[in-house]
Amino acid sequence: MRHLSVPSAQTQTWLDFCKSNSWLQSEAGVLPLDDGRKGIPLLDNAPSTGDSVWKGMPEVIAQGRVKGPSHWTQRLDDELFLQMKGDWPTAFEVQGDIQIVKIEPELQQFETSIAEAMLQQSPNIRLICADEGVQGDFRIRKLRVIQSRDDDESTLTRIKENGYSLWVDPAKVYFSIRLSTQRINTAISATKLSQRLNRGIVVCDPYAGVGPSMGALLTEQGLLAGYHVGDLNPAAVELLEMNVDYLISKSDDSFTPATIRCSDAREWALDDELTESCDLLLVNLPHDSIGHLPELIPLLRKGDITLLRGWAIIEKDEFDSQKQLITKAIENTSAVIESITIEEIKGFSSSKCFACFEVWLTRPI
Ligand SMILES: C[S@@+](CC[C@H](N)C(=O)[O-])C[C@H]1O[C@@H](n2cnc3c(N)ncnc32)[C@H](O)[C@@H]1O
Repeated sequence: MRHLSVPSAQTQTWLDFCKSNSWLQSEAGVLPLDDGRKGIPLLDNAPSTGDSVWKGMPEVIAQGRVKGPSHWTQRLDDELFLQMKGDWPTAFEVQGDIQIVKIEPELQQFETSIAEAMLQQSPNIRLICADEGVQGDFRIRKLRVIQSRDDDESTLTRIKENGYSLWVDPAKVYFSIRLSTQRINTAISATKLSQRLNRGIVVCDPYAGVGPSMGALLTEQGLLAGYHVGDLNPAAVELLEMNVDYLISKSDDSFTPATIRCSDAREWALDDELTESCDLLLVNLPHDSIGHLPELIPLLRKGDITLLRGWAIIEKDEFDSQKQLITKAIENTSAVIESITIEEIKGFSSSKCFACFEVWLTRPI
């Protein structure tokens, strides 16, 4: 492709000049050249090299930086695209180098073409998987591999959020990148608790999954004194261990207690090591969080201010009654509530929403 070689500082001037004369190859980008010069991509109708309009600027022929289509469907065969126009998937989720897409039954016959187009469109994606719904208590997604870029069909991958990395495996463990703001809010509330107590705090996260909350908490230097984290899903615990090990290796702090377990959260408070051990309790089992509370509150330390943060799926018109249920579960343990808030995070269905509740409470000695 023809390029006008110009000094870097004059790039914009020449771009505007070529554009205004309809000589700019707009499908291609500006090319970095040697000696700090830039190559302006030219159309074939532009004046030839040496023409006075170029004011002595030389021309180079080089492979153009052609910009690709802006949407993966533009990479489908034209006929195929038109055949199912309007039905192509409009949304997908990315976890690390895995792209997860819901394929409606009428599109399944074209799924290889869809996957190929998506892989071409996104060079950082390695694997395209079909999302076949969430199943069971562990909220695991049934994934079917459609196509891999390099024959590696592993669903283990690494994501980055809020400045830390986490191992995830969308085929084995629940994880939602959409809740990263919740993790930041947890760290903010945890910091307030630590300031009130004037010391590092101990967190219990018994439904930790791969440990995204630990990502947010362990990266705040001096915030955590210790932790008890775990999950009932053994596959989650395996990744949780990898993630916590990694996060700790990046921290200058030391942690006591520091336990990771694979057991039912409702049994944690029966363990002497765990009962009354934590300042901050996270309860993230959205369909059952409120129901599990009576068995979890005894994990909170007695005598000082403590914090409970939980997430629940509730009917939009039942905020008040759910708030009362939380209040009752806490007061039944004789704890005194300082404040309780419950706020909608996002819609879940037409009548239900995903909400976060936060309770500041003190358990009497
Ligand atoms: C909604 S996910 C939350 C995971 C994680 N906190 C996050 O934000 O990504 C709920 C987790 O609880 C785990 N789980 C389900 N029932 C449990 C139980 N009775 N005890 C402990 N963990 C449980 C599931 O395996 C799942 O990883």
